[in-house]
Amino acid sequence: MQAKQTVFDTLNGEDINQYSLTNTNGVTLSCLSYGANWYELKVPTTNGDQNLILNFPKINDYVTTNPYLNMSIGRTAGRIGAGKFKIGEHEYKAPTNESGNTLHGGIHGFNEINWAGKIAANQIIFTHTVTSQADGFPGDLDVTITYTLTDDNRIYLDYKVVSHGETVFNPTNHAYFNLNHADQNIKNLELFLRSSQRLELGDAKIPTGKTLANTETPYDFQTTKALGAAIDGLQDIPEKGLDDVFLIDQHADNEPIAILANPDENLRVKIFSQRNAIVCFTANGFGADQPYIDKTGQPYVGVALESQITPNAIFDPAYGDLTLHDGETKHYQTHYLVEF
Ligand code: GAL
Repeated sequence: MQAKQTVFDTLNGEDINQYSLTNTNGVTLSCLSYGANWYELKVPTTNGDQNLILNFPKINDYVTTNPYLNMSIGRTAGRIGAGKFKIGEHEYKAPTNESGNTLHGGIHGFNEINWAGKIAANQIIFTHTVTSQADGFPGDLDVTITYTLTDDNRIYLDYKVVSHGETVFNPTNHAYFNLNHADQNIKNLELFLRSSQRLELGDAKIPTGKTLANTETPYDFQTTKALGAAIDGLQDIPEKGLDDVFLIDQHADNEPIAILANPDENLRVKIFSQRNAIVCFTANGFGADQPYIDKTGQPYVGVALESQITPNAIFDPAYGDLTLHDGETKHYQTHYLVEF
């Protein structure tokens, strides 16, 4: 394993560090301290080194044009209606940052933190204490986010926390994949999702508490199909593409919940997680203002696949438990296998 640490850029007078690991097969994983960001996933292909995730040249692009691009997301992925939730009998209201609701951890989420980082063997390790004072959620959290690269081309993302006080926690990573060597959108890529149901979303994409069947709809990826086929079938809805919470069907630990593939280039990313949902977002409204390094900003320039607990667990325990109590620890893991 080769390792490197450099200064990527500066923001508000602070260094933004870049940490890189390269395994024995020439796969490079690199991260930025800002947002504990997944900056790069480079694989050696017949076309040369190819980065499978979108990225920007400057830190300011992450702040101004796309604050969630490849970011670590927390404390809670997705939307909390009016920012309101209950833990036991206690009602809380987190600060809101989107149409009166709380999205992706609210006003000062994990994506805005310049994390303390270090490399240890085959890991990039980020730590930070997220305080109630900083983000307006109850309780303080000691958070460790670890990216591990193995020599069998797996990337493990581990989220470990210790809670001080009661709070909610449902982290994810917002990496946008594009497995095309050419400068083109992701409509040609094929997707498998182990999901027969998705959440019904109401006004401002807040879960209603109901589920909808995916079978034989544009949302059906139980048999692998091109993303373009789904996107073309969704042109009459406001999103004009996918931005949905898919419930994961029962499966064995070693079975992927999602597979994204470019069959023409023999590239595949398999995603493994024990949590019960994955958000699939096809960057529907993205435009030319977004200065990606190898791709032109446009609708469907990338696809984000965000494993998490269903966001409606915030009000319905039947969908999972996001709560943490004083002194409680929690560990979530998502891992990715790259085949090339
Ligand atoms: C997704 C969300 C989208 C959008 C995106 C961030 O998780 O479902 O609606 O907010 O994050 O650009």
